Amino acid sequence: MVVSAVDIEARSIAKTYGETPVFADVSFRLARGEAVALVGANGAGKSTLLRCLMGLIPVSDGQVNLLGVVANTAKGRALRTLRARVGLVSQKHNLVPRLSVLSNVVHGLLGKEPGIRHWNHALAPKASRDAAMSALEKVGLADYAMRRADRLSGGQSQRVAIARAIVSAPEVLFADEPCASLDPSAGEDVMDLFFRLVKDEGVTVIFTSHNVDHALRYGDRILGLAGGALKLDATAASLNPTDLRELYG
Ligand SMILES: Nc1ncnc2c1ncn2[C@@H]1O[C@H](COP(=O)(O)OP(=O)(O)OP(=O)(O)O)[C@@H](O)[C@H]1O
Ligand SMILES: [Mg+2]
Repeated sequence: MVVSAVDIEARSIAKTYGETPVFADVSFRLARGEAVALVGANGAGKSTLLRCLMGLIPVSDGQVNLLGVVANTAKGRALRTLRARVGLVSQKHNLVPRLSVLSNVVHGLLGKEPGIRHWNHALAPKASRDAAMSALEKVGLADYAMRRADRLSGGQSQRVAIARAIVSAPEVLFADEPCASLDPSAGEDVMDLFFRLVKDEGVTVIFTSHNVDHALRYGDRILGLAGGALKLDATAASLNPTDLRELYG
């Protein structure tokens, strides 16, 4: 029997903040190379679920397996090693404004190479600078390597954030509303670029979006959170925009 590799498995996970429940009994498995859209209304718990899956915050119940490691109990070196194998793209790019674009991309290697040499491109080993330049080429911004990060447009900044996320060759990418801060045209460009890269590199990706068309276009599969539960887990091909809008009921 051929069993495809599972990169992320949530086993009946629950999260509460203090007394306030966010979600409970959420279970799913994501296979290697899958692109999954996580949808749901504001406050449904999408960002919280992503953080739990990455091991950034603890779950209140259940178990998260990420790349074969129990993420919710990993600590110290094991957790750092695990985090170095995943990448994150957020709604806000969080670039360091006064540093060069290249330095910001080099920062994406800090998970694997902690230490001062990866704080700035001028200190970074040649192999790291080359990797960062190659990531910038992939997002079409090699010519901007020496520009200060605060002299970029929103769309360019987000592409630099994508370069920073892919420079360490992550096995899994988490993207929390990767184009929400962009105008529709720049947002389309960023989504096209992001998914071209993840498909080329065979990366598993889980992304959140409020854009129903993006979820269906870029996701192979859709997970929907509503009312503190996983209300939807279906292939994108089996759904239409109306099915998704119902989640926002
Ligand atoms: N650090 C925190 N402490 C307490 N409550 C929190 C915290 N972070 C989020 N929450 C609450 O948990 C719930 C889920 O929030 P979360 O940010 O995960 O939702 P979301 O689906 O990502 O929403 P949005 O679409 O607006 O980004 C919300 O009610 C929120 O107020
Ligand atoms: Mg959110």
